[in-house]
Amino acid sequence: MSNASSARGPRAFVIGHPVGHSRSPLIHGHWLEVHGIAGSYERVPVAPEDLDGFVAGLKAAGFVGGNVTVPHKSRVLELAEAVDEAADAIGAANTLWFDEGELVAGNTDALGFLASLDDEAPGWDGTPGAALVLGAGGAARAVIHGLLDRGFEVAVVNRTLMRAVELAEGQDDSVWAYAWEEIPQLLRAADLVVNTTTLGMAGQPPLTLDLAGLKRGALVVDIVYTPLETPLLAAARAAGHRAVGGLGMLLHQAVPGFERWFGVRPEVTPELRALIEADV
Ligand code: ATR
Repeated sequence: MSNASSARGPRAFVIGHPVGHSRSPLIHGHWLEVHGIAGSYERVPVAPEDLDGFVAGLKAAGFVGGNVTVPHKSRVLELAEAVDEAADAIGAANTLWFDEGELVAGNTDALGFLASLDDEAPGWDGTPGAALVLGAGGAARAVIHGLLDRGFEVAVVNRTLMRAVELAEGQDDSVWAYAWEEIPQLLRAADLVVNTTTLGMAGQPPLTLDLAGLKRGALVVDIVYTPLETPLLAAARAAGHRAVGGLGMLLHQAVPGFERWFGVRPEVTPELRALIEADV
């Protein structure tokens, strides 16, 4: 006799505290439906004190893996039996899966960031140059990991300079930290500008940059996706620059997880994009 979990197929999860805001159930639910997979993707609130127990009980509960969000992204690195190269470099995981029975903690944000630019700004990395990254949190670490992989040199600026300095110190000598006040000079040298701060998010102050000095052909990226069109993106487009928002990164970072859990590589389609856009 099969138990309840095997009867409904492989189970995946997103854990966080809180976890109600996550769009991941919508993304993975769509792919399960499109591919006719009899599995589930469940939103599971897990308080910090319950995380170790939850992870220990994954297999018994019939889980094949899942996503991890705030505040568990660092702690799961210690609980997993293996950590992939990206999660190790970034210092945080967003995806868990089993590899031959061993629990692996990985990070797909850098891949998601790169895939979204490949998709929405083809040729963006043809001649890797200078990138300016605003912010020094976990998102900045993921973006920088991706940019180094494509051969960019990175200037990182942050309101709290010390966090940028610490981030740069942990990297090779392709990453330098600068103070927020140096943004105007850094913008003149940049081929790519990426906002990873919360500025421009709904309910937060806008990110206002003077883009007058930005090179022609420079690409402006905002990984914020609530709203879809941030003040930074609007200003960049108005000044004639290519601009890419954060929705693509959210969608593309989900691809490797789904493939590992359910064995099918899903696609980021206009249909999926429209589904999430309607929910933002
Ligand atoms: P995440 O892991 O998602 O990157 P985080 O670690 O909370 O989140 O980082 C948020 C980023 O937004 C930080 O770089 C933060 O700057 P500080 O390190 O100085 O806090 C940045 N940020 C938040 N509010 C900001 C503001 N009003 N002005 C400038 N930067 C801001």
